[in-house]
Amino acid sequence: MNEWPYYSPPQDTPAEHSGEGASHDDHASSHHEDSPTEDQVIDDVTDEMPEDTGNDPVPVAPFIPAPNRPRQTRIIAMMNQKGGVGKTTTAANLAAALVMEGMRVLTIDMDPQAHLSLSFGVEIDEESYSLYDLLSDDELDANDVICEIYPGLTLLPSEVNLAGIEGELAPKVITGQAQRVLKDKLAAVLSDENPEKPDFVIIDCPPSLGLLTINALTLANEVIVPMQAHFLALQGLSKLLETVQLIRNGFNANLTVSGIILCMHDAQTILAGEVVGDLQAFLEGSREAKVPWQNAVIYQPYIRRNIKLAESPSFGKTIFEYAPTCPGARDYETLAQSVLAQSVTS
Ligand SMILES: Nc1ncnc2c1ncn2[C@@H]1O[C@H](COP(=O)(O)OP(=O)(O)OP(=O)(O)O)[C@@H](O)[C@H]1O
Ligand SMILES: [Mg+2]
Repeated sequence: MNEWPYYSPPQDTPAEHSGEGASHDDHASSHHEDSPTEDQVIDDVTDEMPEDTGNDPVPVAPFIPAPNRPRQTRIIAMMNQKGGVGKTTTAANLAAALVMEGMRVLTIDMDPQAHLSLSFGVEIDEESYSLYDLLSDDELDANDVICEIYPGLTLLPSEVNLAGIEGELAPKVITGQAQRVLKDKLAAVLSDENPEKPDFVIIDCPPSLGLLTINALTLANEVIVPMQAHFLALQGLSKLLETVQLIRNGFNANLTVSGIILCMHDAQTILAGEVVGDLQAFLEGSREAKVPWQNAVIYQPYIRRNIKLAESPSFGKTIFEYAPTCPGARDYETLAQSVLAQSVTS
């Protein structure tokens, strides 16, 4: 990791997320700012928490891009149609860890549950634009919707009405336009002409294989699968890989599966050990096959179950702002280095 001290907003000023292009102040209200129940939420959580979260204030620093940035933007879909496996937790904290490594990261909340947006403390109000507006309004530009979380980290936020977009886009499925609307909308942001082109795009997919996930896979060049080492995990994986293969045959010939992240891992259980063994055997058996997961890895480290990771979203903070020294922060920091090691750099 480089020496850059990552950004940590002041502890008790809620409206810390200022915008670049469109800002939260312009069009999105902070999770902390508007929620009348914030104190209650904090009280509830702190009742069960040790007082010291290990959250020492860290100076705000400008973003300094690292020299080992990938040659081309790595666009990664965090995908698993199974719910509650750690997609959003991984999207938020891997993105934050990559920014700490000097990578410019754009995150995209493709889930109408808007958990990624909330994890960053972003709540869309009536005045503000979200991914729904971007996908449904031909005139709207992505830069009017993307907001800055802190230097180096930006977000295309979501809200609950995104659920309706699949129905609205349905008539365009037949022409193939519905599947690539996100990709078309982000063409300028991802072009070489953009001086602030992201090094990574991290897409938090919903727990389904519908049109939103298909849009994510059409834009992405990589899939990473967060999962838990549970019974039937492999069965779910084969359905997921089938979908990736279909997209590769249809909309995105370059799509590959980079790997699997084991989340909420309990290393002591026999079942977890067996499932990891099965996963390894499955991936090793695919090395000679011409499939999108031919080179997929199981990333190190496995992300341990850590309560701080579950607490931090209710404060609208990443783990590095909330409890930077906890095991969850260390796991995501090291994971970011594993992901970075796969990059082709110039
Ligand atoms: N390593 C971890 N340790 C403890 N709790 C975790 C960990 N990772 C995730 N969680 C918690 O588990 C729950 C599910 O995680 P998360 O929301 O990231 O999953 P998801 O796959 O995005 O879910 P969904 O499919 O609903 O979008 C959340 O409450 C989250 O805070
Ligand atoms: Mg999620």
